[in-house]
This record gives sequence, structure tokens and C-alpha cells, in this order.
Amino acid sequence: MTKKTDGKAKSQPKGKSDRMEKLVSLCKRRGFIFPSSQIYGGINGLWDFGPLGAELKRNVRDDWWLVNVRWRDDVVGMDTSIITHPEVWRASGHLEGFHDQLVDCKSCKQRFRVDKIEGGSCPECGGELTDPRKFHLMFRTQLGAVAEDTVDVYLRPETCQSLFLNFKDILTVARAKLPFGIAQVGKSFRNEVTPRNFIFRSREFEQMEIEFFCHKDEEDKWFADWLEKRQQWYIDVGIKPDRIRQMPHDKKELAHYAKKAVDIQYEFPFGWQETEGIHNRGDFDLSQHTKFSGKDLSYFDDATGERFVPSCIESSAGLDRTVLALLCDAYEEEPERVVLRFSPLVAPVKVGVFPLVKRENLPDIARDIQRRLQKKFVTVYDEGGSIGRRYRRQDEIGTPFGVTVDYDTLEDETVTLRERDSMDQRRLKIDDLAGEIENACTR
Ligand code: GAP
Repeated sequence: MTKKTDGKAKSQPKGKSDRMEKLVSLCKRRGFIFPSSQIYGGINGLWDFGPLGAELKRNVRDDWWLVNVRWRDDVVGMDTSIITHPEVWRASGHLEGFHDQLVDCKSCKQRFRVDKIEGGSCPECGGELTDPRKFHLMFRTQLGAVAEDTVDVYLRPETCQSLFLNFKDILTVARAKLPFGIAQVGKSFRNEVTPRNFIFRSREFEQMEIEFFCHKDEEDKWFADWLEKRQQWYIDVGIKPDRIRQMPHDKKELAHYAKKAVDIQYEFPFGWQETEGIHNRGDFDLSQHTKFSGKDLSYFDDATGERFVPSCIESSAGLDRTVLALLCDAYEEEPERVVLRFSPLVAPVKVGVFPLVKRENLPDIARDIQRRLQKKFVTVYDEGGSIGRRYRRQDEIGTPFGVTVDYDTLEDETVTLRERDSMDQRRLKIDDLAGEIENACTR
């Protein structure tokens, strides 16, 4: 529910918007991301991930889950319903407070959030602005088949509320003791009035959230710990360290639930923007849900004999925004090629396999190698065009390795392994390929 982080509405420098345009075009052309419902003319703020986008997103999601859930003894995962009891949103404060104040420019008709404009006129054309109007950000729908019986419900605008609702049950089933966390990845929906910057701000997106419960006296310690770990994760998945920074919130910028907040920001071509918020939510959520549901959500510490409502440190990251940051970070134009320098960990395709020529049985051998590698990695087989062109096609989608089968392969069962970034080539035994690729593509 952070409102602070979008830059002020203003035009971007030309070079940077060109870069963004080229990236958007590459994403469409190569099958990373398409506008939703294209054959009907598209629909604003909604996107479809194509074959490469789906793989990229999956790799990021899986790595987040591995590091933050599977590799920790003190965090468990959940997968909760998107629609919840409507009272949840009254308790969370969303029904009351989750809206934007908007103004329209009477001349150029563009729409702006009031908190994003400086001065009283249109930031694009200087025109006169309308009075502010309130727009609710939650999507409302109806549950129930018969008109008289329907209940208004909402598509969740954040995934975390269900983690608070399940706090007591998870304590029991996981036999957990504080400090411990509950994590989930899933879709969230916000009726954003000004979706923009490609998938940066959409109406349907995925969040990766951790609610980490601790004693009040340990809030600061765990806040610092999560902030550091979460920032490091972006670097581990391949983002350049100097394009990641922390941005603490002023007291007046804090969301209603937060005692303290620091954004993790990435330097997108359109400026520094939030990819994740680390929040100290105190006992706000558990206390609110206790109040509204009438169910006690306190914790009893056997060791100290103390009963209390735990505090919560939240890590709330955007999966789509992380994917966009990775795409922006990886995109490079060189004189001879366009290359996406993804970390092999997240690259959608790990290896391309090519017969040097379509003669003798080189294609059969290459197919056979591809089929073997396919059991472990996403692979591509390509026999079309010159070998240089085939390498370039893979560079453009960020494939870290290329394997070429040539006449020497017939003699000694070796292939050429070509690396995307250095473009270095070396000979390797076919049997050693899987191990080599696995080393580079896994943590
Ligand atoms: N549970 C706290 C929470 O939802 P938030 O700052 O509103 O906090 C967390 O959202 C993250 O979710 C953001 O840092 C961003 O990465 C992602 N996010 C929020 N709104 C988004 C949108 N409209 N499109 C894409 N990602 C969004």
C-alpha cells in the first residue's frame, strides 16, 4: 500500500525512453511479454507473458521460494485464496483508505495522481487541472449465483492478509515458535488509474511476500536482517549492485499499517523506482483481525510465560517489477549484436544446440544432445541460417550457452561450448555438458 515511490510525473530523457521502447519491442518480438487481449485492441495495464517471459518469471519465483522458504527453517509457505471474506479488507484498512486522489488535465486530458504533481497545473502541458476525485483501487466483484443472495467481495490488492488470518493455524501445524515467518507468491489486483511504464505498474501482478513474526523487542534486529538479505537477493539474481539502493520512508509517507519502511529501489530507464518494500507492521494486522473476527491471535511464549500479540516485519516484493528490472539490467546493445546478459540462474533458455551444417548425421547428433539436456534445462534446437546468426538469436534472448556439433564431433564425441558474454568457445566432451551447464545455472 505504499504510495510514495513513483517519480514525479515528467517526461523522460530521450535516450532512456528509446532504450525502454527497444526493450518493449524486443519483449514482444521474441515472446517475453505481450499486451493482453491484443486481437481486441489490448486493454490498459494488463499483460500476457509469452513462452520466454513465463520461463523467466518462473525462474525468479522459484529462486525466491528456494532462498526464502525452502532454505530456511524459520519460514513456511502458503498458497491462499484470492478472494477472502470481505471483512478482511475492513479490518486491514483497505476499504477505508485504499484509494488515489486524481486530477485530469482539461487541455491534454492526461490523468495524474495528486501526490505526484508539483504545483497546480498540468506537468505535461501546463494546462488547467480538474478538482481532485477519489478512485478506489480494489476490484469489487460478487459472490453467489442468485441476485438477491450475492455478497460484494474483492480481489486481493496484496497477498499478505491471508497470512495474518492463518497465523494461529500455521503456528500449530508447523509447530513453530517465534521468530518465524509465512511466505506466499501470488496474484494481486489493483485498479490502478494510471498504469504505466510497461509492466512496472499493472492492474494484475504477482507479489512475493513474507510476514515474519517476532517479539516487539526484536523488531529492529529483524528489520535490519531482512533488509540486508532482500537487497542481496537482487544482486544474487544478477542485478548490478550500483543499480540497487535503499530508500527509507519519511514518517509522513508511511502507509497506515507501518511503523517504519524502507523501499528497495532499482534504477529503471525511467528513474529510481521501488521493487520491494520492507515494512515494520508492528502488531497492526494481528490486532485488527483479532478485533474484527473476535478470534484471539496472540502468542504464548512457553519459555518466558509471556502472552503477547507478535510484531511483524514484512518483505513485499513485486515479481513483475523484478522481471522488468532484470530485463532492463540485462539489455545491452553492442555493434554486432543485441544481448540480454541475464544471470544463467534466471535466463529463460539455458542452452541452444546447433548442428554446424545440415549434412551427414550432425542434425541427428545435435537433436540427441538437445533431448538429453532437455530433461534438466530449457533448451532450443536451431538448424536455420549461419551459425553466427543462430548465436545472435540466442544472445538476444539471453541464452548463456550454445553447443555446436561439427565434424570433429564424429571423431571424438566433443562439441563446441560457446559462452554468451565472452563469446569464448572451447571443446568439451558431450558427457560433460550437463554438469558444466548445471554448475553455472544453479545456486
Ligand atoms: N503488503 C504490502 C504491499 O503490498 P506495496 O508497497 O503496496 O506493499 C509491494 O506493494 C510491492 O508490490 C511493490 O514494491 C511492487 O513491487 C509491487 N506492486 C505494487 N503495486 C504494483 C502494481 N500496480 N504493478 C506491479 N507491481 C506492483
